[in-house]
Amino acid sequence: MIMDGNSRWAKARGIAKEFQLRAAAEACYSNAREIVRLSSDWGIKALTLFAFSTENFLRPREEVDQWMQQFERVLSLDDPATMLLDGIQFHCIGDTARLPRTLQVKISEAQCITSGNTGMKFVMAIGYGGHSDLVQACQALAREVQQGNLAVQDIDQINLSRRLMLGERCEDVGAPELLVRTSGEQRLSNFMLWHLAYSELVFEKQLWPDFGEEEYKNALVAFQGRKRTLGVRHS
Ligand code: IPE
Ligand code: MG
Repeated sequence: MIMDGNSRWAKARGIAKEFQLRAAAEACYSNAREIVRLSSDWGIKALTLFAFSTENFLRPREEVDQWMQQFERVLSLDDPATMLLDGIQFHCIGDTARLPRTLQVKISEAQCITSGNTGMKFVMAIGYGGHSDLVQACQALAREVQQGNLAVQDIDQINLSRRLMLGERCEDVGAPELLVRTSGEQRLSNFMLWHLAYSELVFEKQLWPDFGEEEYKNALVAFQGRKRTLGVRHS
């Protein structure tokens, strides 16, 4: 899911300018918690939330800081509204080296503590870009070829996809079946370009903080109405 429209939501609510950033970040994650809970309750096998893109680092410093603080709050296990309850297995994808050190620690802790959980796989894409994901996978393959551990002709879709940031962590659930983007924008914005090759795309008009249970159900119903042939013709 691409959680778009948080700043517009805060602005539209008439919140004073100096409080808008914080209100947007808080509204984003209060809704994200609800969507994670619903997904887990409904038996969704894996959910990835696009939290912050590589391009988002170019936003004003104070906005970047606001989002980083929000991520730390969300990943704090002493937060009573934590998203890491209910047997959820947490993963993070993205260039974590660019994140504040304290957040990097929280991410490792959350991944470690939830690694034995068998519930829904919940992935947060923080500092993530589909292009950089593919570039680092190519570098990993090139290194293996250079070291003599892999032949060029053995590079295939399976070993490339295993070197993407998600790696083998969600291999059992396969590629995402559905992508939802809120706020009416209709683009991928560099999100999981490899994985979304055959995903169904649903674009919702609501801003992310307003994307609730009813809207989520509508997206799933839209998905269920799609004919998925994966390019093959069925007689
Ligand atoms: C998405 O909400 C969250 C992040 C990019 C971190 P926006 O901040 O893009 O909200 P709008 O699209 O400007 O309203
Ligand atoms: Mg936006």
